[in-house]
Amino acid sequence: MKIGCPKEIKPQEFRVGMTPNAVREAVAHGHQVVVETGAGTGAGFSDSDYVAAGATMLGTAEDVFAQAEMIVKVKEPQAVERARLREGQVLFTYLHLAPDPAQTADLLASGVTAIAYETVTDERGGLPLLAPMSEVAGRLAPQVGAWTLQKANGGRGVLLGGVPGVSPAKVLVIGGGVVGTHAARVAAGMGADVTVIDRSVPRLRYLDDVFGGQFKNAYASAGNTMDLAREADMIIGAVLIPGAAAPKLISRAQLAELKPGAALVDVAIDQGGCFETSRATTHQDPVYEVDGIMHYCVANMPGAVARTSTLALGNATLPFLLALADKGWKLACAEDKHLMAGLNTHKGKLTYAAVGAALGLPAISAAAALDL
Ligand SMILES: NC(=O)c1ccc[n+]([C@@H]2O[C@H](COP(=O)([O-])OP(=O)(O)OC[C@H]3O[C@@H](n4cnc5c(N)ncnc54)[C@H](O)[C@@H]3O)[C@@H](O)[C@H]2O)c1
Repeated sequence: MKIGCPKEIKPQEFRVGMTPNAVREAVAHGHQVVVETGAGTGAGFSDSDYVAAGATMLGTAEDVFAQAEMIVKVKEPQAVERARLREGQVLFTYLHLAPDPAQTADLLASGVTAIAYETVTDERGGLPLLAPMSEVAGRLAPQVGAWTLQKANGGRGVLLGGVPGVSPAKVLVIGGGVVGTHAARVAAGMGADVTVIDRSVPRLRYLDDVFGGQFKNAYASAGNTMDLAREADMIIGAVLIPGAAAPKLISRAQLAELKPGAALVDVAIDQGGCFETSRATTHQDPVYEVDGIMHYCVANMPGAVARTSTLALGNATLPFLLALADKGWKLACAEDKHLMAGLNTHKGKLTYAAVGAALGLPAISAAAALDL
């Protein structure tokens, strides 16, 4: 198969769909890979890295889209990219179609077979192509929160780990899933006094079993949340209710009860945020203050560490990418129901029920699409 990897064009996106090592594996499987010149620069991969891995570099995105039977990307295709897609071509990338009627309409009009990273599933009910980005965002959260706590950045001037004779900072992590667990591990590793709260008792049992010595946990009742929040120097919001907006767990009025200069890191901002005063910010201007409380609310945190994120995403996508290239999308999906769960559009039909429900469009099952 001829696989194409264009340069990402969404503003501030520095990741790339295929690493040189992914190219090397695809070529070893007998495939051809065309990569747009400069596609990997933002993630620290040079054109010569790709050439050494066996790729052919092409000077324009038009050529990559025109030549490739499968396009591998990171971000949803932008309007100019969507105009280049066609029936018979496979698109493998993050799509997030439910809140995006314009993109959905364009993908359906193009006839492309679009497989979305975010809806591919695994045996344990997880989302294996979303998890790496949650791991990155979780581990990054205490790092950006520690910076926010510095006096010059508007914070309360507290060092996360303290020093001998001075107590460490208190960190409250709300939500003990993938983001929250990774955030808690790093915050504890930096020497902070960490408590994770969650509304799932089985999850709290797991955290207690595995990380009992590293950080504390508590049930996320409203009372516990505020008791711990009042004591905290940093609060990391890491909740998720699948398919729903994040619940608002600290109101504007409650900010007055927090320590002045405390840092709120709202990782859940991509689902609307879990603090009433959260609004999405960018890497250029990540932090703002409300009532003396610092807010960090960057919606695409993994973009800050594009190289690590590219490598982590690449590890997770590679087996699926190879299956799609080796077997063709139909056989690959027929043999793997988890990959089939990623199918969102094919030949002008929507093949993901939740997207149809969100946008008021008819959808067929992914299995039915195999016969089209
Ligand atoms: N900003 C970014 O760049 C970025 C990157 C990755 C993920 N995220 C977001 O981070 C959030 C967490 O993702 P995840 O992968 O850890 O999800 P997850 O499903 O692994 O974990 C979410 C946890 O929140 C808990 N929870 C739900 N409601 C709660 C409540 N009211 N109080 C306390 N806990 C509650 C759940 O029980 C679960 O354990 C999501 O909104 C995700 O979209 C953001």
